[in-house]
Amino acid sequence: MTESTRVLFVCLGNICRSPLAEAIFIHMINERGIANRFIVDSCGTGGWHEGNPADPRSIQVGVKNGIRVESIARQFRDTDIEGHDLLLAMDRSNENNLIRLGVDPGIIRRMRSFDPATPDGPDVPDPYYGGDDGFDKVYEMLVRSCSGLIDSF
Ligand code: 4NP
Repeated sequence: MTESTRVLFVCLGNICRSPLAEAIFIHMINERGIANRFIVDSCGTGGWHEGNPADPRSIQVGVKNGIRVESIARQFRDTDIEGHDLLLAMDRSNENNLIRLGVDPGIIRRMRSFDPATPDGPDVPDPYYGGDDGFDKVYEMLVRSCSGLIDSF
């Protein structure tokens, strides 16, 4: 039996980017009939929003595209290191935070390294303080990145 790949999407607050990435990824693996190959979760390196649903703007961009964003925010914890095979950081700062928290850099990838529109390109920008169109742009980046990520397995 093949073991599932345990994937953890990580941003700062776990209310905007990583819950959307998680929801898009789950939607795509369901569509492709390969959901049983993965265990999927998301978290934030910060704990300010612990216990909260995703930002309404992330939920809304999901609704517009037929994707349910259902995760509840939680902070990264030490057991996430042993508990996952791959950590997807939304930006360089998230990646540095994870390394500071003791994660082996070898199991961290930046999300947009899987985005064919910008190989080695910039980060998934934090849309929290911007307008709604920031969430549409983040959504498009995450769709391309999730598709590239799935193709990489
Ligand atoms: P996220 O966005 O990391 O994509 O969830 C943020 C949400 C909240 C905060 C920062 C980023 N905050 O400072 O509260």
